[in-house]
Amino acid sequence: MLDLEALLRLDEGRMLQALRGFPEQAERALGLACRVPNNLQGFKNAVVLGMGGSAIAGDILAKFSLVPVITVRDYRLPAWVNTETLLIAISYSGETEETLGAFREGLRRTQRTVALTTGGALAALCEEEGIPWVPVPPGFQPRAALAFLLFPLLGCFARLGYIREDPASVLAPLRELRDACLPTSAHNLALDLAQTLRDKVPVVYGAGPTAPVAYRWKTQINENAKQPACWAELPELCHNEIVGYELADRLFSQGLVIFLRTSFDHPRVAKRVEILKEVLSSRGLAFLEVWGEGESILSQALWLLHFGDWVSFYLALLNGVDPTPVRPIQELKQRLKAGTS
Ligand code: PA5
Repeated sequence: MLDLEALLRLDEGRMLQALRGFPEQAERALGLACRVPNNLQGFKNAVVLGMGGSAIAGDILAKFSLVPVITVRDYRLPAWVNTETLLIAISYSGETEETLGAFREGLRRTQRTVALTTGGALAALCEEEGIPWVPVPPGFQPRAALAFLLFPLLGCFARLGYIREDPASVLAPLRELRDACLPTSAHNLALDLAQTLRDKVPVVYGAGPTAPVAYRWKTQINENAKQPACWAELPELCHNEIVGYELADRLFSQGLVIFLRTSFDHPRVAKRVEILKEVLSSRGLAFLEVWGEGESILSQALWLLHFGDWVSFYLALLNGVDPTPVRPIQELKQRLKAGTS
């Protein structure tokens, strides 16, 4: 019998508090959208600069924007960035060297620039250069501050007519999901799935708008649950990844494929999932499906994202670890700062 109360004591970093507030944080963050100045209008494309927990906002935005958006996780910018590009730097800490490097380079190429951060060197640079920046509340882990990094962008793009859906429409389904995933919930599907994923290597598959969501599941399982996980996207994975199933029984017996599904999946993607399920079964490989809920594809994608965050939270507790600390990331940053290899 699971002693959830005892397991919750592992959550010393209070990830639960951040997680349960996601729908309200999203609502508050939509209000921050009006801080993005109107003079940024008229851009032809946008580049979101960021790493890790700060970068995922760019990936989600890119799937819903009516103008081209890419996320750059690098020190350098693509060659095509010019005066018509909106450059959005996102760094929760404001200290991430890749983001700062690419942003400095971008300031020489476009004047359409904005940043989202809690402060640090990024805020200082913006103040120095007279660049608008959206203040993000401190006190979270970057990955737990996603609402504050994503929803101002969704709100801004929606206001400019660059997103079809109303981002506010996702709030009600997110609240409902949050309530169902709370530790007090009688039918907690997130906890159930976490129990299934214990001692497994989750392999999360998404398609189109759920591809970055699959990536988020992978990174949340890594960072919260301290557990290995993989991800891939359809239809691309049908052209390479599936060949790796051939030796999976010998090398990957703990693998468990999770298909992230929506009612908006392309019919040919849906067909591919059915075939893949047969292939996996014939090889004795485990799989399951998780369906997003909500009226729109934006709702369903963010529903799946939030659900994955809950699953990774419970998986951390089942693994006996505090979901919050990410020591290997901090140690690596320290070593880089100290100039050691
Ligand atoms: O989850 C994390 O802590 C990391 O992935 C960070 O987001 C990443 O290292 C970048 O830092 P920041 O978000 O402060 O720019």
